[in-house]
Amino acid sequence: MSSEKPTTVAAVDAEALEREALAAVARAATADKLDEARVRYLGRRSELKLALREVRDRESGAALNALRDRLEHAVEDKQAELAAAAGAETEPFDPTLPGAEIPRGALHLITQLRRRIEDVFVGMGYEVYDGREVETVWHNFDALNQPEAHPTRDPQDTFYVDDQTLLRTHTSPSQIHAMMAKEPPIYLVSLGRCYRRDPIDPTHTPIFHQVEGLAVDRNITLADLRGTIEQFASAIFGGRRQVRMRTGFFPFTEPSVEFDLTCYMCDGAGCPVCKRSGWIEMGGAGEVDPNVFVNVGYDPEAWQGFAFGLGLDRIAASRHGVPDLRMFWENDIRVLEQF
Ligand code: FA5
Repeated sequence: MSSEKPTTVAAVDAEALEREALAAVARAATADKLDEARVRYLGRRSELKLALREVRDRESGAALNALRDRLEHAVEDKQAELAAAAGAETEPFDPTLPGAEIPRGALHLITQLRRRIEDVFVGMGYEVYDGREVETVWHNFDALNQPEAHPTRDPQDTFYVDDQTLLRTHTSPSQIHAMMAKEPPIYLVSLGRCYRRDPIDPTHTPIFHQVEGLAVDRNITLADLRGTIEQFASAIFGGRRQVRMRTGFFPFTEPSVEFDLTCYMCDGAGCPVCKRSGWIEMGGAGEVDPNVFVNVGYDPEAWQGFAFGLGLDRIAASRHGVPDLRMFWENDIRVLEQF
């Protein structure tokens, strides 16, 4: 085959064609002129394309294809050169202009509120104490005076890791850790995630956040508790929300109370979110039960205290008019970027 003389390539003087085409490309001073050269030397009716169509042997075909590649590259290089020159003419680089803005993210609303609440309590002389999300049954229930048969111990309500280990159902075990580690007086808040197998709805998610508060000192009464909660609520809500205390029951406080805030959707008028009551339950509180003091080795005759636990997610929803707690987990940027 290679000894056969190519017949069709003879019709084209490849070297002369290449020289002529490269010169035309180099001469082109505008995009239009370059396009003209491209059509002339690489277009459908160009000498090169016609020769390629006629080609019958491998060598000639390869030679002409290589020539076409070289010409195409020359055209591309020239196009880039002309575009760069045009860009430089219309948009000269100005180093004094501000740079392209990089959009900045923000902390999640729950994190912002958590820090705000910590600030409010630090301002009242409280310490911020870190608890644990994976807890022993003893810290989460037994030490908190929770009876063996209490329904929250049921695996249907609580995520167990094994018989003795669970995902904490509330931040109250932080009280136990703190009291076992320190001597009174104690003034602390402990904030973080809690886990319950609650059915999901606008006011319940299986993972949520609580703020735990604990004060242990001499002669602490429910009046101190009420004053502290009111101080906290007006710092967070600007005095617009009303706080209501009702009698309640928690095994680790005696007496116990429950806290409500006026509903964030209807402002107290009654709506489906607050089940027409006008109030949203925020958490519980009370005087520390003497049995809890005994469990951590404190003398219940010498010390009194109050404790409270509030739902951070519901406070965030209430403060910012978020209609459904699930929105905090969906990570829809249109929601998150508002905070
Ligand atoms: C407790 O968890 C007690 N440990 C509070 C406490 C602490 C009482 C100290 C006394 C002394 P309760 O189960 O009511 O209480 O939960 C407190 C708050 O957590 C609720 O009012 C609510 O705001 C929030 N919460 C509870 N479950 C959920 C949930 N599934 N989703 C969102 N928030 C929740």
